[in-house]
Amino acid sequence: MAADQVGHPLGVFDSGVGGLSVLRALRQELPGESLVYLADQAHVPYGPRPLEQVRRFSAGIAHYLLHPSAGLPVKTLVVACNTASAAALHEMRRFFPDTPFVGMEPAVKPAAEYTRTGVVGVLATPATFQGALYASVIERFARGVTVLQDTCPGLVAQIEAGELDSPLTRRILEQALLPMLAQGIDTVVLGCTHYPFVIPLIQSITGSGVRVIDPAPAVARQVRRVLHERRALNPAGPGQVSYLTTGDPARLSALLPALAGENAPVRQLSWGMELQEYAA
Ligand code: DGL
Repeated sequence: MAADQVGHPLGVFDSGVGGLSVLRALRQELPGESLVYLADQAHVPYGPRPLEQVRRFSAGIAHYLLHPSAGLPVKTLVVACNTASAAALHEMRRFFPDTPFVGMEPAVKPAAEYTRTGVVGVLATPATFQGALYASVIERFARGVTVLQDTCPGLVAQIEAGELDSPLTRRILEQALLPMLAQGIDTVVLGCTHYPFVIPLIQSITGSGVRVIDPAPAVARQVRRVLHERRALNPAGPGQVSYLTTGDPARLSALLPALAGENAPVRQLSWGMELQEYAA
């Protein structure tokens, strides 16, 4: 990375509002950095889609953030989406070898270290469970631990609608968690970046004896390490955030106070115009 990129922003993307849980942690860890947040809400949810399609969307987004129509190219890309990380992280590193990428993987390692009952629950999308990344995490870290999985159908849509505490959101979570509790889980891994926004609801179902792992702070620390190693940390600050969506900008803007802690304008991007699906 060239030294003159120090003042460039970090790129953060997700299918929708989920990556804002990572953005929150990044702003806390790295207040000097400017950020560009891109939500691909034209295509949310990614979770039920074929991995190949998520790969084309993700590569198109990475290409755009590295060659934007306005503003500076990003100096590092945070794939703030477990599904896009599962589908595309490996290929994106291959397509864009000069850019550092930081992705998400379900936090099975800390869960396996923490559990006393030997039973942990993982909540993630179908595509995340299908990917090679999840298989490798289980293979490496889950020896001797029983891992229960659930895809929480409909939960991403509820969170996209800002329904963080509605009866339907509770029902979806109860359907996932009550059978896991009956089998003795003492740890829940949030393997989808949308889910930290319903931690209070999850905790009200599980009780305080169950630990819920949100990986966002660890990911933010990893981004700090990557920037530090490349001498790309921006000491100047304060950082600004620009929000982009491929969906309805008014809808995303309305959710920002609750999910990102600020009022901010959102710019719309369109697939086929600024953004192109990208395949190797
Ligand atoms: N927030 C995403 C994840 O971490 C994607 C959810 C979705 O679009 O299905 O997996």
